[in-house]
Amino acid sequence: MNKTILCIGAGYVGGPTMAVIADRCPDYKVIVVDVNVKRIAGWNSEKLPIFEPGLDEVVKRARGRNLFFSTDIVGGIKEADIIFVSVNTPTKTFGAGAGKAADLQYWEKTARDIIEHAESDKIVIEKSTLPVRTAAAMHRILASNSKKLHFEVVSNPEFMAEGTAIEDLQNPDRVLIGGMETPEGQKAINTVVDIYRHWVAPEKIKTTNLWSSELSKLAANAMLAQRVSSVNSLSALCEQTDANILEVSAAMGMDSRIGGKFLKAGVGFGGSCFKKDILNLVYLCEYYGLPEVAAYWEGVVKINDYQQRRFVNNMIRRMFNTISGKRIAVLGFAFKADTGDTRESPAINICKMLLEERACLAIHDPQALDNAKMDLDGVDGVIEYVDDPYEAVRGAHAIALLTDWKCFKELDYQKIYELMEKPAFIFDGRNLLDHAGLYEIGFNVYPLGQKAMSHLN
Ligand SMILES: NC(=O)c1ccc[n+]([C@@H]2O[C@H](COP(=O)([O-])OP(=O)(O)OC[C@H]3O[C@@H](n4cnc5c(N)ncnc54)[C@H](O)[C@@H]3O)[C@@H](O)[C@H]2O)c1
Repeated sequence: MNKTILCIGAGYVGGPTMAVIADRCPDYKVIVVDVNVKRIAGWNSEKLPIFEPGLDEVVKRARGRNLFFSTDIVGGIKEADIIFVSVNTPTKTFGAGAGKAADLQYWEKTARDIIEHAESDKIVIEKSTLPVRTAAAMHRILASNSKKLHFEVVSNPEFMAEGTAIEDLQNPDRVLIGGMETPEGQKAINTVVDIYRHWVAPEKIKTTNLWSSELSKLAANAMLAQRVSSVNSLSALCEQTDANILEVSAAMGMDSRIGGKFLKAGVGFGGSCFKKDILNLVYLCEYYGLPEVAAYWEGVVKINDYQQRRFVNNMIRRMFNTISGKRIAVLGFAFKADTGDTRESPAINICKMLLEERACLAIHDPQALDNAKMDLDGVDGVIEYVDDPYEAVRGAHAIALLTDWKCFKELDYQKIYELMEKPAFIFDGRNLLDHAGLYEIGFNVYPLGQKAMSHLN
């Protein structure tokens, strides 16, 4: 084996990333460790702990050959030459910066584990998304070891998106590697470049200084989320003016300076990263005395919250100003299609708001029901979690479609109409369905940023 790579954190990033590295680099031994015993057992089983198209095949090819999942963090640290740290970096919920700053306790804990157990020099790679200049703090912590060991910190943020993680990892738009501008820093960068060169074209591997690399990840997520909020804000204006957001998005996207991606109106962005990374950026701007910049980015999050509230308000208004006691079928709970992940899913807030209005919810999702149950655990109200979409809609007054799962397009809406209370409402929070066809069947259809199609006027 060429070198041993350790990844600390076997989550949505650590697991798939290391599986692809092991698959593409058979000359490296890759060990993935986590404190979560259940998660590691899942990675070693037939049913992996996360759902990602293509992940099973990649793991099966490499696991037991040069890919290993373990809870032996100490053993992994001793053995590794290169350590990726991919632990969670949630928004801080306490103390200074609560609600905005990144909570770095898991990161710092891993740094201290590395110092305590390392017996040789190592490259420590920030895979987690971190505030700009975290590497400086890490350098200081790691350099404080009394064993005279040298740890070089490199930033290699992950740009994969859940739902397309394997495709993104196998064919990345770019791989970003940032290091110190010293000979040791450059050497460490080259060591990391060597890994990716196994399958990524050299022109797609970008090396930068540490701070640019750290900030680029926050900036990329902020820019993506900003596009979603921009188009969602315009969807509200479309509904007031009879402009159609699909047409507006298509027209904007045809401008090569703008491009067509991430211009879909919906109930808002979710996922574990966008909100936390923007809030982190906001915090950094405030910290560095840039209140105007902070306010600009904070607006992106505010529009996202506004869009969810607007969606619920519209449901209430259209359903004769009360949804109390009415059964509402919620189709989709994951924050996007092709994942079971529900972290920061707009569905969480929307369901809570519907429950506050005393609606009775029947939630269906092809992958995310277990997570949905955890997210809504302890929330007051009537909630059913339903495996069969046709059972979810039985007796419902309305459907709220919240995730763009393709399978929702393929449902038999004639049958669904017959199973529902009348008048039957569909609120398509992802503009996924054939609205004219639904209207023909008899539904009152409320897309986002488009004219409502109602039989009630
Ligand atoms: N999820 C995404 O789509 C995505 C994409 C790009 C970047 N990121 C970033 O990557 C990082 C990880 O995200 P994730 O979605 O994989 O998180 P996750 O919560 O799914 O996984 C993190 C894992 O780290 C483990 N962990 C925490 N502290 C540990 C410790 N001291 N020792 C060993 N294991 C420990 C946890 O048990 C958990 O399994 C975050 O910083 C996130 O912002 C996430």
